[in-house]
Amino acid sequence: ELIPVILCGGSGTRLWPLSRESYPKQFLALQGSGHSTMLQQTALRLKGMSSAVTVSTRPVVVCNVEHRFLTAQQLAEAGIERPRIVLEPAGRNTAPALTLAALSCWSPDAPEDDPVLIVMPADHVIENEAAFCRAVEKAWESAGRGAMVTFGVVADKPETGYGYIQQGEDNSNGVHRIRSFAEKPDAATAQRYLKEGGYLWNSGLFVVKASVWLDAMQRFRPDILLACRESMSNSTADLDFIRPEPTAFTACASDSIDYAVMERLPADLMCGIAANVVPLQAGWSDVGAWDALWQVLDRDAQGNATLGETLSMESRNSLLVSNGRLVVGVGLEDMVVVETADAVLVAAKTHTQDVKRVVSVLKKRS
Ligand code: GDD
Ligand code: MG
Repeated sequence: ELIPVILCGGSGTRLWPLSRESYPKQFLALQGSGHSTMLQQTALRLKGMSSAVTVSTRPVVVCNVEHRFLTAQQLAEAGIERPRIVLEPAGRNTAPALTLAALSCWSPDAPEDDPVLIVMPADHVIENEAAFCRAVEKAWESAGRGAMVTFGVVADKPETGYGYIQQGEDNSNGVHRIRSFAEKPDAATAQRYLKEGGYLWNSGLFVVKASVWLDAMQRFRPDILLACRESMSNSTADLDFIRPEPTAFTACASDSIDYAVMERLPADLMCGIAANVVPLQAGWSDVGAWDALWQVLDRDAQGNATLGETLSMESRNSLLVSNGRLVVGVGLEDMVVVETADAVLVAAKTHTQDVKRVVSVLKKRS
């Protein structure tokens, strides 16, 4: 069985002012009204899997306790009947989140009941679902044999916000060994990787057996495993919610899957877990910032994308977003304008990464 594990705990600050702490981007229909939200799209992404793989109809969704009703409601609307919603009392990044999910799916009392997990961030866009499903089928086979598998995307600019995967030889049928993995390299290193070639961006999606992930945590971060175990063994359940015990979980260290495990796995030959990558060409985007959203939206002949009540004249390559009031752009070039009830963002498209900093400045001011 393949169990979707949906990571839904991020804050999406670079899409301020649309994405807020109380309503982060995974809960928004970023492609416009009438579309489903990013969480809903994620939950429905595996519908096209071949019959060779049994996909569980009950995904594990890990989110912050504050977002429990938003999450439950959106999943219900998408027709997901009995999700397992794990509620984090506080965010501790993706390694603890996945550890909670794995512990909820596997127990040493029934070791043979060991599902393969597909870890999916709730805030990514994948345009070609058929191509995605074919890649997942390959990864599933490899994970079934005990590997930790990720998906690699063609790297075409020296982006520093991604993990870089050095691709090794093809093991079988399009599954490659990972030679090395570098999370969020500095700009000079990212430049060098791009020039050297042979590197892929980590998409942030992973396929791994529950027990194999727990073994990896035992090896690299036994402290995190211990805290998560303690928290899960004292968890309570109500409705579709699983509530890990808060004191133990809050005491857990923060770390990401990438730093905690992916950077170390390829170099650790004694550990016995293979690190593999399946190249993915499926129109993947993590919609990390406004310029990335502009990329994934439909654009007119002048390159303008709009959402909501907008009008643009004599403008090029710009993004106008209205959340209520009419937004009019005249003579704009490479600009982003986002209107909401209490804040308006006007930014050069080349500077949309800096919006993250805006949010921290505003936080300090308030
Ligand atoms: N439940 C839960 N709890 N989810 C979380 C938490 C948490 O504490 N922190 C983050 N997430 C979710 C986010 O919502 C997002 O969907 C996903 O996990 C990844 O977290 P990010 O914070 O967005 O990671 P990143 O973008 O810096 O880096 C990761 O993704 C890149 C591709 O988008 C890494 O895997 C990189 O290697 C990768 O290139
Ligand atoms: Mg991200």
